[in-house]
Amino acid sequence: MDQQTALKKKAGEFAADLVESGMRVGLGTGSTAIWAVRRIGEKLKSGELTDIVAIPTSIRTTEEAESLGIPLASFDELKELDITIDGADEVDGRLNVIKGGGGALLREKIVAQITKRLVIIVDPSKQVNLLGETWAVPIEVVHFGWESQKHFLESLGATVEMRLGEDGEPFFTDGGNLILDANFGRIYNILALETKLQQRAGIVESGLFFEMASDLIVASPDGMQHIQGRIA
Ligand code: 5RP
Repeated sequence: MDQQTALKKKAGEFAADLVESGMRVGLGTGSTAIWAVRRIGEKLKSGELTDIVAIPTSIRTTEEAESLGIPLASFDELKELDITIDGADEVDGRLNVIKGGGGALLREKIVAQITKRLVIIVDPSKQVNLLGETWAVPIEVVHFGWESQKHFLESLGATVEMRLGEDGEPFFTDGGNLILDANFGRIYNILALETKLQQRAGIVESGLFFEMASDLIVASPDGMQHIQGRIA
């Protein structure tokens, strides 16, 4: 296992230990969040954790959770989640986040917004002073008229690329939409940008998670850092 993977594993397992028996849990998506899912599965199997139910944020995570025997619930059954553990592509010092590198931003945000405690787990490569420094903002758009969303994002100053899959064909999300990766450079006013994106027909969701995270866990070669901010 390379060092970055080992750090992701540490962060995921540390976060999984925040889950207590009886909790309703959101399961994130990606190569960091998967370690939390696996640890929760292990703890259920050993009996260290009991009586939890979970909502996964992607088809991939659903398959992993099912294979580990983690009991899943629907939004009909759960109005609120106690904790969600998820990765990030970038996180700033105020715990604002860019997500969607794995294409699951819409489901991730739907789960995050019913979560009391959103725990973001990263290795140090994800930490930035200002969002946008190293990563484009994934924007999920409907297929119809997607080019007009590209023009709109360009009019806001972004350089835009349609996300492609490994086969070189357009990448489709679990919801059947496209992703435009919009590079705005450093984002000085996240809320102003997010507001413009939310008002645009055809844009389904953005990967900007503004003031949603309550905890940040960073696993670095020097040890574990756990920063706690707001809890909804
Ligand atoms: C998926 C995500 C991921 O959490 C994000 O891309 C980080 O992924 P990884 O832990 O694999 O680096 O937002 O949509």
